[in-house]
Amino acid sequence: MSGHIVVKVSAIDTISPVVKQFTLEPCDRALPRFSAGSHVVVSMPGQDRWYRNAYSLLGDPADTSCYRIAVRRQEASRGGSRFMHEDVAVGDHLSISPPSNFFLPRWNARHHILIAGGIGITPFLAYLHEFERQGASHELHYSFREDTTGGFSLELQQRLGSSLHCYQGARPDFHRILADRPLGTHVYICGPQGMIDAVTRAAKDMDWADTRVHYEAFAAPESGTPFVARLAASGIDVTVDDETSLLEALEAQGVEVPNLCRGGVCGQCKTAVAEGRVEHRDAFLDDEERKRHDCIMPCVSRSLTDTLVLDL
Ligand code: FES
Repeated sequence: MSGHIVVKVSAIDTISPVVKQFTLEPCDRALPRFSAGSHVVVSMPGQDRWYRNAYSLLGDPADTSCYRIAVRRQEASRGGSRFMHEDVAVGDHLSISPPSNFFLPRWNARHHILIAGGIGITPFLAYLHEFERQGASHELHYSFREDTTGGFSLELQQRLGSSLHCYQGARPDFHRILADRPLGTHVYICGPQGMIDAVTRAAKDMDWADTRVHYEAFAAPESGTPFVARLAASGIDVTVDDETSLLEALEAQGVEVPNLCRGGVCGQCKTAVAEGRVEHRDAFLDDEERKRHDCIMPCVSRSLTDTLVLDL
C-alpha cells in the first residue's frame, strides 16, 4: 500500500459484544491531519491473503496525537473484522493508509441531519466534534440493536441531549424526519444499504435536491458468483472467488490498482473492460457508463459473464 503509515495499537475498548474501539498511535512519524468523515484503510494479514478494510476515524479531527476506529465483528466476516477482534492486541503494530474523505459535512448548510444505522455512527462521532466547535446546528438519529452498537448511545446522550433521537430495534420514520425542513438543511446517512435507499427514496418523494442528500455505505463488499478476470496485456487469468472482491484478487496476484475508498465511491480504481458484462455495484458511474460495460470499479463490482477481460 503506497504511503502507508505504521501505527501502534495503544488501547482496545469493548463498546458492545460485537464492537471494539481501537486507539492507534504514531510510531515513527506524526499522524497526518484529517477532516470529519475521513477513513483509513487498515491492512490485515489473513491466512492466505491480505485483507484491506476501510474504517472511519471517529476521534476529534483537531487531535492528531492518535486515531480511533471502531470495528464491528461481522457474522459473515471474510477475515478482516475477525482478525481485528481476535488477533490484534495492545502493543501490536498495524499498517494503515493516510486518511481520505468522501463524506465531508457541507459547511454552508443551515442545519445538519445525521442518520446512522449501527456501526454507521462512526463518521458522525467525528462530525460532532466539529459541529460542537463551530456551533453548527445539528441533530442525530441513531438506529441500533441493543446487542450490537448501542454502546455509543450513552456517551451521545450526554453530549447531545434532546438533539439525539435513538431507535432501538425500530426503524425511524424517514418521511417524518425530513418533513418541513427549511431550505439549506442537509441530510447525511451512514448505515446499511437498505437504510440509505429508504432515506434517499423519502428525500426524493419530498423533492429534496440531490445536492442536499449525502451518504456513505460502510459494508464490506458483498459476495457474489465466482468468475475469471483475464488481464489483456499478459493473458493471465485471475480467479475471483465468491468471497473475494476483484480488487483483492488482483492485489493477491501482485497487480496494483489505484484505490482509496474501497467502497465504490471515489472512482480511483476505475478499470477499463475489453470484453464481458459488468455487474455494477458502485455509486460512482452514471447510468450511461454502466450501460456501456466498458469499465468497472473492482473494489465492489463483479462480472455477469464467466470471464471478464480487463485492460490491464
Ligand atoms: S477504490 Fe474507490 S471506487 Fe474503488
